[in-house]
Amino acid sequence: MSPRERTVHRCEECGAAAPRWSGRCAQCGSWNSLVEERVVRTVADEAAALLAEPVELAAISAEGGAPVPTGVAELDRALAGGLVPGSVTLIGGEPGVGKSTLLLQAAAQRAAAGGRVLLVSAEESPEQVRRRADRLGAAVEGVALLPTTSLSSALSAAERHRPDLLVVDSIQTVGDPGLGAPGSVAQVRECAARLVAFSKQQGVATVLVGHVTKEGSLAGPRVLEHLVDTVCSFEGERHHALRVLSVTKHRFGPTGELGIFAMGERGLESVADPSAFLLADRRPGVAGSVVAPVLEGRRPLLVEVQALVARSSLATPRRAAQGVVPGRLALLLAVLEQRAGCPFAGMDVFASAVGGIRVHEPASDLALGLALASASLGVPLGEDLVACGEVGLGGEVRQVAQTDRRLAEAARRG
Ligand code: TYD
Ligand code: MG
Repeated sequence: MSPRERTVHRCEECGAAAPRWSGRCAQCGSWNSLVEERVVRTVADEAAALLAEPVELAAISAEGGAPVPTGVAELDRALAGGLVPGSVTLIGGEPGVGKSTLLLQAAAQRAAAGGRVLLVSAEESPEQVRRRADRLGAAVEGVALLPTTSLSSALSAAERHRPDLLVVDSIQTVGDPGLGAPGSVAQVRECAARLVAFSKQQGVATVLVGHVTKEGSLAGPRVLEHLVDTVCSFEGERHHALRVLSVTKHRFGPTGELGIFAMGERGLESVADPSAFLLADRRPGVAGSVVAPVLEGRRPLLVEVQALVARSSLATPRRAAQGVVPGRLALLLAVLEQRAGCPFAGMDVFASAVGGIRVHEPASDLALGLALASASLGVPLGEDLVACGEVGLGGEVRQVAQTDRRLAEAARRG
């Protein structure tokens, strides 16, 4: 085979290709993000391209696309039933959020249900994986482990082992020495493409773990998102137990579904009633507390929003926001001051969404505004009060989408 080689320069941020190096990506505007990538096209590739033959759509069976439950309740809920054979799912999240834990639990459950599971661990030693399994109390009979960073080893082991579920942890740490530095865009994309081809061919459900960068994009990056069938993101605050798995792309079901977990001493526990979980430690009769019925994806959740207003000893008083958007906090303080005569000058203001959840929706404005006013006046609000509404600059309250679903959740919790 005579390889035909050329080089392109690929942006590490957006994956765009450019013929020449430059300091700035013409596609997404990132600086210093272009890296050289060798493109090798073999005669075999070219022959395969010539032989590619379209098939009659009507002649294709739609069967075989049914999801198989992983056995982890909230993961199955988020994935609209489970993992589809022949599909590839990418689970992204910051280091330490619990991706390996989640997948080990899913692997153990799947094996317990009679599935064949192969775990490719490119980051951890077999002992580390075993220790985690012991900690989880998970029975791991039937889970095969391959510690390797070599993609070729992983693929040939998978070919021999014929798993129903293949987990690669992580896609950034497996590679092929022929393709440049591990973790580079070229590596990550090529490895993912090979795993996608393998999964389709063999009908294996494959899950790839991906680490995200500080900016929250999948490192190695959006190029992966259109290669795979399903993209999930796993999030949570380091010091809180709550973990949220959201599905941002799904070829086999709706997006916007959420899986909600609590990280405990023995791994991740599915939280079937997150509103109850989030409101469990609420203290009644305290000023500055309101419940907001927010919609996370398609799922309504009751979140306690708290505010505290205290005299400041600083020249520039503090404005601290945890779990709420700092810009919305600033806006609500200005609106309350100008339109409702609530004085915040010289006062420190703290606002938070309780339980480690992040509230992004403008629909939570009214709850935050009420919490701030209640804290400022020292007057507690009704314990059974929920508030949703967007607050405009004129101090007006605007309607929000899907009020009925929010209110139904509030009614359910009394
Ligand atoms: P891990 O699954 O290794 O995260 P990731 O693969 O996303 O990097 O989880 C790491 C964190 O989870 C670690 O800080 C310890 C914590 N943890 C628990 O709190 N309880 C448990 O039972 C386990 C296994 C981990
Ligand atoms: Mg891990």
